[in-house]
Amino acid sequence: MIGVFDSGVGGLSVLREMRKALPQSDFLYFGDTANVPYGGRKDEHVRQLSEAAVQRLLKFNPDLVVVACNTATSIAINQLRLDHTKLPIVGVVPVLKTAAEQTKTNKIAVLATVATLTSRTYADLKEQFARDVEVLELALPEWVLLVERGILDGPEVQQSVQQAAERIRSSGADIVTLGCTHFPFLRPTIVAAMPGIEVLDSGPAVARQVVRVLTANQKPPDQSKAGSVTYLCSGDPAAFSQVATRLLGETVSARKA
Ligand code: DGL
Repeated sequence: MIGVFDSGVGGLSVLREMRKALPQSDFLYFGDTANVPYGGRKDEHVRQLSEAAVQRLLKFNPDLVVVACNTATSIAINQLRLDHTKLPIVGVVPVLKTAAEQTKTNKIAVLATVATLTSRTYADLKEQFARDVEVLELALPEWVLLVERGILDGPEVQQSVQQAAERIRSSGADIVTLGCTHFPFLRPTIVAAMPGIEVLDSGPAVARQVVRVLTANQKPPDQSKAGSVTYLCSGDPAAFSQVATRLLGETVSARKA
């Protein structure tokens, strides 16, 4: 079983990609909706919440845990790996390398939370992969809240996305990296607001990495059955289920963790 967690519903965008790559695997998704958002919290608190999320998943004896949250990955994954040396842990970071390789204007934009953009992990990634390109960084915590409420279109979304699009256009960036797992759910509006600009997200790369790690650990999925997904959350399961059903386009029935 693959354990997955995020502060809320955002990690479902990563889950969606992993299910495409591993349709026969069983997944357990934990959304920490009692504590969302993580993106404005102090590092120590994000580390505590991430450890608590891993502890919940460990009760189900996962083969691997996916930190389906850029914020928790940027701030907590090193500590999680030190504390759980036998557990394979895969994280998600903004795809800066691909963006820096593909830009023709030598300018890219990264959209994420404040915590991700101010983290050491992000600074190191930028230094390693995007030293020679100009990077516009936009913190968009309001997008996290919109997705948490299941609001994916309409005037509020349009206005906020248009404002971001304006700044991105005037920066000259031709590639935008979605550095928060909530943002792919706004993708149709984002793409429509930025014609000619390519929008990248990390979900497919995370799914490929999970396949690599499972294969390396000789834990291939059982081919004889269809995979299952169990949903847990720390907040109101009815609210989680309603939003997750909207985001995934299939009925989700979550339990309180
Ligand atoms: N989905 C998360 C991320 O990828 C965090 C959003 C939040 O809780 O602020 O960064």
